[in-house]
Amino acid sequence: MPKPIYVLNGPNLNLLGQREPDIYGQATLDDVRERTQARARRYGFEIEFRQSNTEGEIVDWIQEACAKACALVINAGAYTHTSVAILDAILATDIPCVEVHLSNIFQREEFRHHSYISAACVGVICGFGVKSYELAVEALAERLDAVEG
Ligand code: DQA
Repeated sequence: MPKPIYVLNGPNLNLLGQREPDIYGQATLDDVRERTQARARRYGFEIEFRQSNTEGEIVDWIQEACAKACALVINAGAYTHTSVAILDAILATDIPCVEVHLSNIFQREEFRHHSYISAACVGVICGFGVKSYELAVEALAERLDAVEG
C-alpha cells in the first residue's frame, strides 16, 4: 500500500456550502473529501484529509506529511496570500505538492492574485470548484506513475 496523499485545507474552508456559495459553490468540505477520496482510489491511493483555521497547525501537518505522505495537495485559503511560514514548510519537504483553489483567484481581487506558496509547488489548479481537488490528485497520481484502475 503506498503512503497516502495528504490533502490540507486552510482557514474558513470548514464553512464550505454556507460560505459565499456564489463563489465557492454548494458542496461542503465533506463532499470535497468524498470526491477527492474517490478520485484517489481510482489510482490506488488513500488520502489523509484535514482542515485547520490555524497557520501553525497547517505547518505541523506539512512537516508530518514529509515523513508520512507520498504527495501533498493544499488549499491554504487566505494563508495562500500571506504565509511565508507555509511556503517554507513546503520548501522543506521533498514530496510533490499541488496548490489548489476552488475559485479562480486571478479573476478576483488583486490581493488574491499573488500566492506565496506557488513557488514551492509542482503545479497550481484553480477555478474548477471541487474538481480542482480531483484534478490535483489525478496529476499527482500520474506523476507518481500510478495506473488508473
Ligand atoms: C480559496 C481562495 C482564497 O483567496 C480564499 O481566501 C479562500 C479560498 C479558494 O479555494 O478559492 O479561503 O483558497
